[in-house]
Amino acid sequence: MSQSPQHLVRFGIAVPGDLLENFDNRVEKSGFPNRSEAIRQLIREYIMRETWQKESGSVYGTITMTYNHHACDVTGKLTSLQHDFGDVIVCTTHVHVTHESCLEVLIVRGPVARMKDFITELRSLKAINTLAPVLTGIAASEETE
Ligand code: NI
Repeated sequence: MSQSPQHLVRFGIAVPGDLLENFDNRVEKSGFPNRSEAIRQLIREYIMRETWQKESGSVYGTITMTYNHHACDVTGKLTSLQHDFGDVIVCTTHVHVTHESCLEVLIVRGPVARMKDFITELRSLKAINTLAPVLTGIAASEETE
């Protein structure tokens, strides 16, 4: 009989007592509902990190950036770049923060290698002030709950 991927599996792990005590103290202070939820989240983060490093799958998340829209034809270059990488951009949000500064958030989804290329190209734009990619989820077949 096959189990659904969402089926919870109980397992035992052995760790030094002081390590567990240290972990439990942090779990409690960090706001996790319980130790299991903290470990589930750490496992997902580990899988995400491995996926990113090994470029072995697809991910989703956001790329947040700020820039001065007066500088170096940045809006034209940015639009052109977003058309080049339209296959990984789900949607974008733009906020005019001040007279000069713009905040733009891109929701992205696609292969890790393609995402890294996109981030590299974005970083090459001189007018970008800050760039914060936050790829938090694994897309496609390696997805985890
Ligand atoms: Ni703007």
